[in-house]
Amino acid sequence: MVTYGADLALPSVNKTDTFPWGVRLIVGLPVGLPSQKMIDNQRAIAEAIRVDPDNVEMRYTNDGLIVDIITFKMPMKLAYQFGPSSTSTYRVFTGVNRRGEPRYYDFDGSYPHLLIGGISGGGKSVLLRSILTQLATGPAPDMYLCDLKEGVELGIFRDLACVKGFASTLPDVKNAADEVDVEMKRRYAIMAANGSQQWTGKKTILVVDELADFKTRAGDPEAKLKNEIKTTLTRLSAKGRAAGIILVLATQRPSADVIDGLIKTNIAASICFRTRDGIQSRIVLDHDGAASLPDVPGRLIYQTAYDETLQAPYLAADEARKLIADLPKKTVVQTEEEIRHVTNDKPHAGEVNPMDGDIIEL
Ligand SMILES: Nc1ncnc2c1ncn2[C@@H]1O[C@H](COP(=O)(O)OP(=O)(O)OP(=O)(O)O)[C@@H](O)[C@H]1O
Ligand SMILES: [Mg+2]
Repeated sequence: MVTYGADLALPSVNKTDTFPWGVRLIVGLPVGLPSQKMIDNQRAIAEAIRVDPDNVEMRYTNDGLIVDIITFKMPMKLAYQFGPSSTSTYRVFTGVNRRGEPRYYDFDGSYPHLLIGGISGGGKSVLLRSILTQLATGPAPDMYLCDLKEGVELGIFRDLACVKGFASTLPDVKNAADEVDVEMKRRYAIMAANGSQQWTGKKTILVVDELADFKTRAGDPEAKLKNEIKTTLTRLSAKGRAAGIILVLATQRPSADVIDGLIKTNIAASICFRTRDGIQSRIVLDHDGAASLPDVPGRLIYQTAYDETLQAPYLAADEARKLIADLPKKTVVQTEEEIRHVTNDKPHAGEVNPMDGDIIEL
């Protein structure tokens, strides 16, 4: 409370604006009442004006204290739709926020690597499907997809020409990560020769659906392989950005063992669906928030410079299949030269043929 002599000075509502999502109040504060004090007491103030504290957001600007009372109800399910620019950029639609506004993730932006966490059934694989569909139908980066659930989740993308590697076993994941690592070194060499600091050519994206599969147990016969994969992922997370190498790592069991400090430091953008507890939420977001998200598939916290709660679009596998049906596929008939290259030669660093694995299978 602030008083001037005998007079009580109270905050005053200077302006009221109505938006599709609710109402915005611009509140003037009496001298001596810091806006932070109002923000700290947000819940009590919301109760005093008879609105659900969860529907109130406050922040201070030069115009005064902004109090948003949100009446928009986030959808429980959001139909998949293309963002307008998704066909020409690496920007993908990730969902709508509490105000119903669309939000995007830009793989060409300041936070290219993405960590996706959250409980089983939260919506990680559906989100990956929607992201990959948008990328594949857009400028299509080279893709390396690691799906340790026997390829059931990402398998629909497998035959696309832009998918240069598809791994559903640990040794295959190691090969995929190594190929991307070789490509990164090749790009650094080209950049050094050109004196450039940033790769401007086609991007490469390495997706891992279920990072927890690299967790090692005592006496784990695959410990060496898993540790090698983790070391490569850490190197890619640290140095990939400038070379146009993007990591997208998803896990239902965020644990400090797998998302070690180094990977975490290098991945500045996170998407976290509901987590089992605050500990898992903290590993992904550095705070407990995702543990108290409602039990709605597709509901997530999107964290870059700040946090936003979003509802991700739902894209069923059949729908995704239709959307990618007309995209270029890998050629089935390989020229003799290519086959000889695969069977006789190991690719030299810098001229890796990322389709090798697939060619051998044919
Ligand atoms: N954005 C969404 N909107 C509505 N429903 C969704 C959404 N995302 C997922 N679901 C529902 O939740 C189910 C599980 O989603 P998904 O397979 O993506 O979970 P997950 O997080 O990958 O789980 P796991 O960790 O077990 O792999 C989907 O089959 C779908 O029914
Ligand atoms: Mg999944």
